[in-house]
Amino acid sequence: MKKLIAANWKMYKTPPQAMQTAHDLVNALKEKTFCDKEIVVFPPFTDIYAVVHATSGSGVKVGGQNCYPEIEGAFTGEISPSMLFSAGCSYVLAGHSERRRIFGEQNDFIAKKIASALQAKLSVVLCVGETLEEREAGYLEAVLKKQIEEGTSDAVPANPAMFSIAYEPVWAIGTGKVAGLPEIEEAHGIIRNILQNRFAESFAEMRILYGGSVKPENAGAIMKCANVDGLLVGGASLQAESFVQIICA
Ligand code: PGA
Repeated sequence: MKKLIAANWKMYKTPPQAMQTAHDLVNALKEKTFCDKEIVVFPPFTDIYAVVHATSGSGVKVGGQNCYPEIEGAFTGEISPSMLFSAGCSYVLAGHSERRRIFGEQNDFIAKKIASALQAKLSVVLCVGETLEEREAGYLEAVLKKQIEEGTSDAVPANPAMFSIAYEPVWAIGTGKVAGLPEIEEAHGIIRNILQNRFAESFAEMRILYGGSVKPENAGAIMKCANVDGLLVGGASLQAESFVQIICA
C-alpha cells in the first residue's frame, strides 16, 4: 500500500496560478529519483482542467474538493462525481470540516456523496475530526465513530484501496497548531479499530491520512507514527517547493 500525500488547495489559485504550481510540482518531482508515494492535488473546480493538463503523464493525480450526489440535473452550482471523473479526476474529498462547519453538511448527505463518488469510480477521502470542545469533553472516539459509520452508511467501498480517511482535528486546521504525535497515534489507532469493525478484512488496506497544519518541519515525524498512511496538506501545499519537501520528508 503506497503512502498517499494530498494537497488541498481550498479556494486558492486562478487557472494560470494553478497551472504554474502544477508545473513546478511536476518539475520538482522529476528531480527526485525515488518517490514511491501516491500524490494527489485537490484544486478548485475552475482549475481542474489546467492541473489535469499540467500533470498529464507525471503520475500526479487530481481530485475534486467536493461533489453533489446526483449524476446530472437541475442542481445549479453543483458538480457531479461523473463530471469530475470525465474532467480527469480520480479522487474526491468528502466531509471536510470546512464543508461541515460553513456549509452545514451532515453525515447523511456526506454518505450520499461517497456512494455516488464510488459509483463513478472516484477514490474517496473522507475527512473526520473533532472540535476542541468535543476533545475536551472526552468525545473523541464517539465523534470519529459517528462520522465514519454514518458517512459510509450508503456504500461499502468494493476496493478498499479506493477509500481513505483523513483525520483532521478541527482545532489543528489552518491554525498552526499541529496535534502532538501521541494524539495522532491515538486517533489513528481508534480510526483503524472503527474501520475494522465496520469493514471487516478490508480495513487494513484503507489508508488513514493526517491533516492539520502539516509543514515540511513536522511531516517526517508524523509519517513515522503508527497507522499514519499519508497526509492531507492545506496551506503548505500551495507552494510546490514546500509540498515537495513534505512529500520527501
Ligand atoms: P492546513 O489544512 O494544512 O492548512 O491546516 C489542512 C486541511 O484543511 O485539509
